[in-house]
Amino acid sequence: MCGITGYIGREEAIFVLLDSLKKLEYRGYDSTGIAILHEGTLTVRKAKGHITVLEEKLKNEQIRGQAGIGHTRWATHGEPSDINAHPHTGVSDRIAVVHNGIIENYLRLKEWLQAREVVFKSETDTEVVAHLIDYYYRQGSGLLTAVQHTLKRLEGSYALAITAADYPDRIIAARKDSPLVIGLGKDENLVASDIPALLAHTREVVYMEDGELVVLYRDHVELMNAQGDHIVRPPSHVDWDADAAEKGGFAHFMLKEIHDQAKALSDTLRPRIKTGEISFDEFDFDEFCGRARRIVITACGTAWHAAMVAKYAFEHFARIPVEVDIASEYRYRSPVTEENDLFIVISQSGETADTLAAMRLAKKGGNRILAITNVVGSTLAREADLVLFTMAGPEIAVASTKAFTTQLMCLYLLALKLGKLHSRIGDAEYRACIEDLGRIPSQAEKILARQDLIQRFASRQFNKQKVFFMGRQFDYAISLESALKLKEISYTHSEAFAAGELKHGPIALVDKDTLVVTIATQTVLFDKLISNIRETSARGASSLVISWEGETSFESVADEIFAIPKTRDCFSPLLSIIPAQLFAYYCSIQRGNNPDKPRNLAKSVTVE
Ligand code: G6P
Repeated sequence: MCGITGYIGREEAIFVLLDSLKKLEYRGYDSTGIAILHEGTLTVRKAKGHITVLEEKLKNEQIRGQAGIGHTRWATHGEPSDINAHPHTGVSDRIAVVHNGIIENYLRLKEWLQAREVVFKSETDTEVVAHLIDYYYRQGSGLLTAVQHTLKRLEGSYALAITAADYPDRIIAARKDSPLVIGLGKDENLVASDIPALLAHTREVVYMEDGELVVLYRDHVELMNAQGDHIVRPPSHVDWDADAAEKGGFAHFMLKEIHDQAKALSDTLRPRIKTGEISFDEFDFDEFCGRARRIVITACGTAWHAAMVAKYAFEHFARIPVEVDIASEYRYRSPVTEENDLFIVISQSGETADTLAAMRLAKKGGNRILAITNVVGSTLAREADLVLFTMAGPEIAVASTKAFTTQLMCLYLLALKLGKLHSRIGDAEYRACIEDLGRIPSQAEKILARQDLIQRFASRQFNKQKVFFMGRQFDYAISLESALKLKEISYTHSEAFAAGELKHGPIALVDKDTLVVTIATQTVLFDKLISNIRETSARGASSLVISWEGETSFESVADEIFAIPKTRDCFSPLLSIIPAQLFAYYCSIQRGNNPDKPRNLAKSVTVE
C-alpha cells in the first residue's frame, strides 16, 4: 500500500504535494518522492525515509511549477532506498510515474523491455510502467495513447499518476483495484489515493471506478473508461473531518485495518496464483523447501498464533512434522536442529528482538531461513535467506489484524505447494483448494458487512469479568488469537483453552460472570464441542458460538451464534478470526478505551 497524489493549478505544486503526502503517510512511510512540471522540464526528487528527509533535501532548492505528482511508499518490490522510491522515469527521463498496487506480470514486461534495450534503474515493479509509456511515446504515440497501450498490458492492481515534460498542462491518472479519488477545485484539480490528501483544497470529489482513466487540466477534468469513452459523473461532497478521513471514515485505525482485510488477503494471494497454480516469484520453491523433512516455526504474539495455524496446515496438506515455538523460548533452549529443517520466522514488523534472536540462532545452527514479514527492508527481511512478503500495507493500530490474516494466507500457500510437491495432495484437490482460497476475500467482506451483530453482542457482554475462548485444532489456534485481541485492547481477563483441556483445570474458573466463546468450524469435532459448551453452560456461563452458515448443531446449546460463510474446515482461521477481532474492538470502545493505542503495549518490541 502506498499513497499517490497529483496536482495541477495555480499554487506551487511542491508545497501542495508535500502537504498531501503528509496526509497519506498512514499508507506508507519508507520513502517519498515528487516530480514537478515546469515549462517543458520535469524535476524529480526522492529520498528514502520519512517525508522530512525529502523536505530537508529540498530546503535549498527552488523548484518551481504548478503541476506535479507525489508518492509515499510502503515497499513491496525492492527495499526502501532512494533509487526504489517513486516517481520512476522512462529512458528519456521525460515521463514520470507514481504507483500504488502490484504489477503482477512485471517480470515478463521487464524482459520484454530489456530485449528492446531498456535499462532498468530500480528493483520495483513500477518502473516497467514508466518504461512502457516511454516506449510507446518514443514510437510516436501521443501521451494519452501511450498510457492506454500500457494499461492494456498490465496485470495486477494499480493507481497511477503520470506526468510528461512535453505535456505541462495535464496530469493523467488511472486505476484498477487500487483506490483513486479526483478532487475538483477552483482553477485547480487534484487526484490522490485517498480523501485526506484533497481536503485542504476541496470537498468536491469524484471516486474513480476500476478501469477508468482521467486527464486533469487546471480548469477541467476528462474522465474516461477503458475504451476511451468520456464519462460524466457528478461529484460527491465530503463532510468528514480530516482525522476521520485519514482513517478512511472509520473511527479508529484498528477498525479500518479489520476492514482492509478483504483487500489485503486478495493482494497477498492474487500475485501468487498463475494459471491456477501457486507460484512464488520470490524464490525457487522446489529447491528451497523441497528438501525439508521437518519445519520449525518461531514468532511472537499474534505472529506466533499464525505459526500455530500453520502447524495444522502443514501437517494436514504436506504431512510434514512441524515444531512451533515462541521466539523468546526458542532462543534460550538448546534446540536440536537437523540439516534438512526448514526454519520459518514470522513477524509483522520484521524487527521483534526475540524473533530476530531466534532466527540468528537457527542460522548459526545451519538452518535455512524463510521469513514471512510485512516490511520490506526490515532486519528480518535482510537477514533471512528468503522472504515471503505479506501485502497488508502498513498496520498502524497496535493490535495486529490484517497482518495476521495475510500471514495465514502466505502459510496456507506454502503448505499447499509443499503438499503438491510431495504428492500428498491430489491435483483436483489442490486446484479446488486454490479456488476456495480465491473466494476468501469476498467471504471476509460478507462477515464485515454484518459487523453490527457483533457490535450489539459486545454492547451486552463487554462487562463480563472473564471471557474464555475455546476450540479444537485450527479453532484452538484462533481461540488463542481471539483471547489475545480481547485482552490487548479491552483489558478484559481473557484466556484460550483447547476445548478438551477444559476439564483438566479451567472449568474450575467458569461461573455466571464468564462468557465462553466457542470457535466451532472443525466439523468432525462438533459433538465433542457440544459437550464442552454444555459443561460451561451448566455452571452459569453465557455462550457465543462462531460456526458455519447453515450449521444447526449448536442451536440447542448456544445463547448466540455468529455464522461465517462456509469454506473448507482447514481454511476457517482466515474467516473465524474476523468476528473475534470485531468483538475485541467493540468491547474496547464500550469500555472507553482507545483501541489503537492500548496501555502498556507497543507495536514493535525491539528490545528484549
Ligand atoms: C507486539 C505487538 C503484537 C505483535 C508482536 C509481534 O507485541 O503488540 O501485535 O504480534 O509484537 O510482533 P511482530 O512485528 O514480530 O509480528
